[in-house]
Amino acid sequence: MENKVLKIIKSRVSCRAYNGKKVSLKKALEVAEAGKYAPSGKNRQIANIYVVNSKRYVEKLRTLSLNELNCDCMYGAKTILLVGAPREDAFTDKDCSCILENMFIAAHALKIDSCWINQFDDLFNTKNGLKVKKALGIPEDYKIVGSCILGYAQDEESLKVKDRKEDFIKIL
Ligand SMILES: Cc1cc2nc3c(=O)[nH]c(=O)nc-3n(C[C@H](O)[C@H](O)[C@H](O)COP(=O)(O)O)c2cc1C
Repeated sequence: MENKVLKIIKSRVSCRAYNGKKVSLKKALEVAEAGKYAPSGKNRQIANIYVVNSKRYVEKLRTLSLNELNCDCMYGAKTILLVGAPREDAFTDKDCSCILENMFIAAHALKIDSCWINQFDDLFNTKNGLKVKKALGIPEDYKIVGSCILGYAQDEESLKVKDRKEDFIKIL
């Protein structure tokens, strides 16, 4: 029998259409807690996770993406976890990516659907975006490496694990 954790890792998929049901704050915090336990370069723990759960702030982020990019980066999800750290730190991208991956796996383990959303760092560099970044309490010098939207899929059936390329793993 396959190990439970490996099964969860191998069945995770990105979800881009949510049914509008909100993930409870308790569950969102469980996901964030998994992110907190990711490894960090030299154990410096330079990153922060911003759990955006309130309707007011989620709407601000959605509106920002609609106004600046003409697309709804929330895909109907009502919770987003932004992950950032000081832009100039050499470990920022690596540390934040580890956090994000832990959170996608944890979400799936909790039967919550998720997706990496990449646009918020660029969005926060716009005039309107900077105001939203400030309102969320994110330091101006922070890079938002990525974010994790959380919710429940509109249609579970359409969530299929993608094939991986044959030669992904090289044995030497
Ligand atoms: C660095 C990175 C950035 C991504 N940015 C986005 C994004 O902005 N929007 C989106 O819908 N998916 C985004 N994704 C999700 C990928 O498109 C997705 O992981 C890929 O298609 C493989 O599908 P899977 O996650 O279902 O295995 C991103 C993934 C990564 C790792």
